[in-house]
Amino acid sequence: MAAVPTLLLVSLLCGLFAYRCDGACAEVDSDTEAVAGRGFKLGCISCKRRSEVEGSATIEWHFKPDGESDFLHIYSYNENGPTIENEVFMDRIDWNGSKRSNDIQDASIYLFNVTFNDSGTYRCIIDRILTYDNYEHNDIINKLVHLTVVAKATRTTASIVSEVMMYVSIIGLQVWLLIEMIYCYRKIAAAGEEALREAANAEYLAIASESKDNCAGVQVGE
Ligand SMILES: *[C@@H]1O[C@H](CO)[C@@H](O)[C@H](O)[C@H]1NC(C)=O
Ligand SMILES: *[C@@H]1O[C@H](CO)[C@@H](O)[C@H](O)[C@H]1NC(C)=O
Ligand SMILES: *[C@@H]1O[C@H](CO)[C@@H](O)[C@H](O)[C@H]1NC(C)=O
Repeated sequence: MAAVPTLLLVSLLCGLFAYRCDGACAEVDSDTEAVAGRGFKLGCISCKRRSEVEGSATIEWHFKPDGESDFLHIYSYNENGPTIENEVFMDRIDWNGSKRSNDIQDASIYLFNVTFNDSGTYRCIIDRILTYDNYEHNDIINKLVHLTVVAKATRTTASIVSEVMMYVSIIGLQVWLLIEMIYCYRKIAAAGEEALREAANAEYLAIASESKDNCAGVQVGE
């Protein structure tokens, strides 16, 4: 899966900048394709602009089945804890969001045993109160997730193409590196031989001219 190298990269970066990633909030979009019979995490993350401002939030999830026009209230999460509000989802939703805090930035939920009837639009509503020194600010954030339920996991062409490209580029780079190494090695070896030959020639010439001079000297001296 193309997601794996990305995850690896992210965790590597997080390892490098641990102090930054620690507790940091990132607004990752939800997946939108669920497989029938399996579980699915409906993601909904809303980061506070300024993490130091104290906040508290309550969450509602609504659902509009494909082909219908109205949203149904299916789930709430507030100071009283989680509540499933709709018969169809009874015992099928679990909280996957921020834990042990009223300051909810991750309002994701987990859907068990997804059926084809779960296809449709999900809306998560985060009702947040930010507490400043002298006043409170109320922020309501809406996010939509269009869920498609499929019989088997399908892969988008984009993810297949990106995976193939990844392997091509990795192998291509290795081969290129190898060729470059061989080429450089040969060039250096050839240059070395050339230099040796030149040095030998130069020495030979020097000796030759020296002996010629000597001979000339001898002749002059005669
Ligand atoms: C979400 O909740 C489900 C069910 O409780 C659990 O299996 C899953 O590991 C949770 N995922 C995350 C990311 O918390
Ligand atoms: C999912 O469905 C199966 C069969 O219908 C049932 O046995 C199982 O308990 C269900 N799981 C959950 C988490 O509801
Ligand atoms: C899906 O919806 C149809 C029509 O409302 C209903 O007959 C059927 O039993 C539902 N299936 C499941 C798995 O809930």
